[in-house]
Amino acid sequence: LPTVDNTHEIAQRIAPDSRIVYVDNDPIVLAHARTLLTSTPDGATDYIDADVHDPAAILERAAVTLDLTEPVAVMMLGILNFVLDVEKARRIVREIMAAVPSGSCLVLTHPTFDDDLGGAGQIPAMEFWNENATPPITARSGEDIAAFFDGLEILPPGLVSCSRWRAEPETPPVVPQFGAVAVKP
Ligand SMILES: C[S@@+](CC[C@H](N)C(=O)[O-])C[C@H]1O[C@@H](n2cnc3c(N)ncnc32)[C@H](O)[C@@H]1O
Repeated sequence: LPTVDNTHEIAQRIAPDSRIVYVDNDPIVLAHARTLLTSTPDGATDYIDADVHDPAAILERAAVTLDLTEPVAVMMLGILNFVLDVEKARRIVREIMAAVPSGSCLVLTHPTFDDDLGGAGQIPAMEFWNENATPPITARSGEDIAAFFDGLEILPPGLVSCSRWRAEPETPPVVPQFGAVAVKP
């Protein structure tokens, strides 16, 4: 759902000609997007009604707004947790990163059940969600989440709890979500 300081607002504050494409398949999200996702005159903002399970359709629509011959930041934040089959999730990442050139980035966050990050505590919450809500969600091990970055160069500080990724000097509490940023060589 659009909020304050959405990706395009931050990007266009720094580079007003930034071009941003959002993807979601929830009609409520898309209705808000239509009214709230405006753009600077020099840049562009688009939103695509597409399912993450269909990366080919996403790439085709994204290419209307983005120049896929130039490096792109692909931000998969809290989305692969809705792709329950890990092999399918890996194929989605591979297909999207294959379609963008060298120098592109992958920014990925994913809930984990690893207890190093206190993840075991969220298993009952996810079970409750899956019994009472849609779409079904899954957490993954840090090892499986790290494998999404295969073939890419992960930037410091690596795959860490999202709250610890280049955190401000006071150490924030660990959250049970792994996140990292990687560059396509
Ligand atoms: C946890 S939110 C993350 C939103 C955003 N990426 C962020 O970081 O603020 C997950 C979003 O994924 C969307 N979503 C869930 N399943 C999806 C699917 N199969 N295809 C596309 N979007 C999906 C939901 O509608 C929801 O807006």
